[in-house]
Amino acid sequence: MKKKIGVLPGDGIGPEVVAEAIKVLNAVAEKYGHTFTYSYGDVGAIAIDKTGEPLPDETLDICEQSDAFLFGAIGHPKYDNDPKAKVRPEQGLLKLRKSLGLYANIRPVTAYDSLLHMSPLKTEKIKGVDIVVYRELTGGIYFGEKGRTEDGAYDHCTYSNYEIDRIAHLAFQSAQNRRKHVTLVDKANVLETSRLWRERVTEIAKEYPEVKLDAMFVDNAAMQMIQNPKQFDVILTENMFGDIISDEASVIGGSLGLLPSASVGDKTAMFEPIHGSYPQATGQNIANPLATILSAAMMLDHLGLIDEAIEVRQAVNASLRNGMVTSDLAKEQSYGTDRVGDFIVNCISDGEESCAQ
Ligand code: IPM
Ligand code: MN
Repeated sequence: MKKKIGVLPGDGIGPEVVAEAIKVLNAVAEKYGHTFTYSYGDVGAIAIDKTGEPLPDETLDICEQSDAFLFGAIGHPKYDNDPKAKVRPEQGLLKLRKSLGLYANIRPVTAYDSLLHMSPLKTEKIKGVDIVVYRELTGGIYFGEKGRTEDGAYDHCTYSNYEIDRIAHLAFQSAQNRRKHVTLVDKANVLETSRLWRERVTEIAKEYPEVKLDAMFVDNAAMQMIQNPKQFDVILTENMFGDIISDEASVIGGSLGLLPSASVGDKTAMFEPIHGSYPQATGQNIANPLATILSAAMMLDHLGLIDEAIEVRQAVNASLRNGMVTSDLAKEQSYGTDRVGDFIVNCISDGEESCAQ
């Protein structure tokens, strides 16, 4: 199979972790006889330095023409202490999402048995947790009208039926292949947009009779995520609540360095680790590449290469089981970013003997 893959390494550790994911994709291509062609583009602070824009048109073109694209991370400390900076790396990400219509952000959270001890939550609470968050990504308060008045500021939150319906369908379809349970997270006791979400999602649920739907206010959901995360299967929610609840859920996985994500639209889709650009670690070969490699596995799924995706996940599991991990996950010995990538590549290319060390 031939696929065009865009590659946006971005800032900080982005290029290092993306390089490992590309190695893994190449190993998969080789083994299964696929041809992946890569086109690289700049985004974030590095793009601002080169062109003055966080998302140059050239990069957007690359993404538009891709079947899917990998995204590393963006952000640089020089922007963090300047909330008034006119051009910011984050604008590149928001523009990508909006221009490409990447409306569904999918964030799986898995409690890996070998890492239960890494979470600040009690093992018995998190063992077996397997949640996927469907966060709406191109609407709501992030993209509503915003501005200043004489003595204040405003950010409007709006949602159309269409924006709610299309992601709701994806969440129900996912639940059908999982434990058949969708939890809608909202604030319908206060917000009109949330009341619309409830109405629409309740209607759509009728098309998926085998899936159970319940709804939960976001404040309660934030508490339940810590107290009893096993109750969740698929979480469906709007942009802002999804941003917050998915960071909270990431604590269950034990390390941010493990969490992948997909942002899916009708034309192309973006795959990125949840973690940021980790500027302090840049160039040191210590960043955990697993979240990006798992994002590449989500990309393979999205491209219909299901066996290939399973193989990548098995290799990641093998690296965790064998302690072939970077320092954020290591009990004793830790390995460099590139060594972890090499292990996974060998595990895929050479099969079982290379997966157990
Ligand atoms: C995320 C990030 C972004 C968001 C920022 C960087 C704009 O926090 O992907 O969750 O708020 O969506
Ligand atoms: Mn976030």
